[in-house]
Amino acid sequence: MRALIINGSARGAKGVTAKMGAALAEGLVQGGAHVDTLFVADMNIAPCTACLSCMHLHPGHCAQRDDMDVVVPLLKQADLLVWAAPVYTDTMSAQLKAVMDRTICSKQPFLYQDAGGRVRHPKAWDMPPKVMLISTGSFPEPVNFEPLVATIRAQTINFGGSCIAELCVPGSLAIQMEPSVLEPHLALITQAGREVAQEGRVRSGTLAAIQRPPLSVDRYRELAGRYENWCRKKQAKMAEKQAGKS
Ligand SMILES: Cc1cc2nc3c(=O)[nH]c(=O)nc-3n(C[C@H](O)[C@H](O)[C@H](O)COP(=O)(O)O)c2cc1C
Repeated sequence: MRALIINGSARGAKGVTAKMGAALAEGLVQGGAHVDTLFVADMNIAPCTACLSCMHLHPGHCAQRDDMDVVVPLLKQADLLVWAAPVYTDTMSAQLKAVMDRTICSKQPFLYQDAGGRVRHPKAWDMPPKVMLISTGSFPEPVNFEPLVATIRAQTINFGGSCIAELCVPGSLAIQMEPSVLEPHLALITQAGREVAQEGRVRSGTLAAIQRPPLSVDRYRELAGRYENWCRKKQAKMAEKQAGKS
């Protein structure tokens, strides 16, 4: 199995999503998979300009020359695509959405109705058949992932794949104050990676354990309180500095 992890965090390798991605990659490799990881924060990928040259003039080829030239060959080779997508304003980051939109060059302009009667475009080339989502968000409630999960599911169907697992861990604000909180989940995500590489799925027990939030809302508020205090001090220092200038 070849897996491609595309990390959409603006903080790249420094973020919580990167820790989850590394844990998943470790498990995938242990299970015998080859893994490539891309950080969009380190890449130059412009938004789709809707020129539709890829559909009308050169099927399968985007007119823009940037780092999608690195992404597309890896997408074509991959059996598994992992969107490593932290929640940004209830969905994915703009950087990652640019990548997603640019995969429109995998489509033809023609139309057909799928088995469910939905009108769709046929493919110019195959996107990875299996898709996963790994995500975190600062707030402690799992409900925060719902719009992102809905987008990933819809996009996966639209591009002819199947979404095999969504591994979403809430509470990253508190996790950053106390990184050890994430450790049991990282071990579970590694286990999920092994299962995906060996069995093509995440076992229901592993999934259920990952879906349990790593900390209660009360514990979250306690740890987040440290962050709030840090912010208050930082703002007070800045206000002092500005008052000194005027
Ligand atoms: C522009 C922006 C919007 C965000 N919106 C949300 C949000 O709607 N819900 C949420 O739970 N977290 C939100 N967050 C917090 C991020 O999901 C959180 O910081 C996460 O840890 C980022 O991933 P990273 O650690 O891999 O960088 C937002 C962060 C940014 C920068």
